[in-house]
Amino acid sequence: MTNNDTIPGPIGIFDSGYGGLSVFREIAARLPQYDYIYFGDNARTPYGIRSFDTIYKYTLECVRHLFDMGCHLVILACNTASAKALRTIQQHDLPVYGPGYRVLGVIRPTTELVGRISHSKHVGIMATSGTVQSNSYVVEINRFFPGVQVFQQACPMWVPLVENNEHDGPGADYFVQKYVQALLQQSPDIDTIILGCTHYPLMLQKIRTFVPPHIQLIAQGTIVAERLEDYLLRHSEIDALCSKGGEYIFYTTESTETFDQKARYFYGGEVRSRHFEL
Ligand code: DGL
Repeated sequence: MTNNDTIPGPIGIFDSGYGGLSVFREIAARLPQYDYIYFGDNARTPYGIRSFDTIYKYTLECVRHLFDMGCHLVILACNTASAKALRTIQQHDLPVYGPGYRVLGVIRPTTELVGRISHSKHVGIMATSGTVQSNSYVVEINRFFPGVQVFQQACPMWVPLVENNEHDGPGADYFVQKYVQALLQQSPDIDTIILGCTHYPLMLQKIRTFVPPHIQLIAQGTIVAERLEDYLLRHSEIDALCSKGGEYIFYTTESTETFDQKARYFYGGEVRSRHFEL
């Protein structure tokens, strides 16, 4: 163990770009006392359309930067990275760093709960193509709730709609209806839909207009924040490695001007980012 391994540092929040800010805003609202570094890999976004090898390589690189900045705990606030890179990082890469380093994702907190939320035990997942292909939601939900049937729908046009601020307009209707119908056609008994992508909470109202009212729509931010609080309470040794000064730093691997302009929609407040050169 080196000195750095025992000096408390910020909690790292990683995403492929802006989307993780929709998760971070809930984490910061629930746990404002911690220091945080948000790291958005906007230069290489989107991750949702990329291969396993690429997502793993990019995610690991960014996690290492966060460790180098003093973080001991990193949250992959990105479904695609959680689906495709988390397990390999936990099993293959983290052991090299030692016991004081942890990486957690956003899929498990929701999958731990969903079997108790759904009455029909038919659950829908809407996510990027990468997350759907990984089958992570299906595997995780079946681990906790073997009796739950999971139906998935990739929604590749939704991230671009949000990123171009077109998600509330009439142009979005076609693709929202198309993917919702494609999901619901898989089972008429779906009563719960997980919005398994960081961008989709911004489209919640639009998605709601095409989803029958008896179906619950689950956004992850508040669930992830609750589970993180619980995790830190249960793991006092990790909590002791998370500094508590209330300082929030934002990095983007792309232009800070563009990041700051778009970030406010996801974060719900002003952001002044710094550039990180990859
Ligand atoms: N953050 C990603 C996710 O939650 C969406 C954006 C991307 O594809 O990079 O899956």
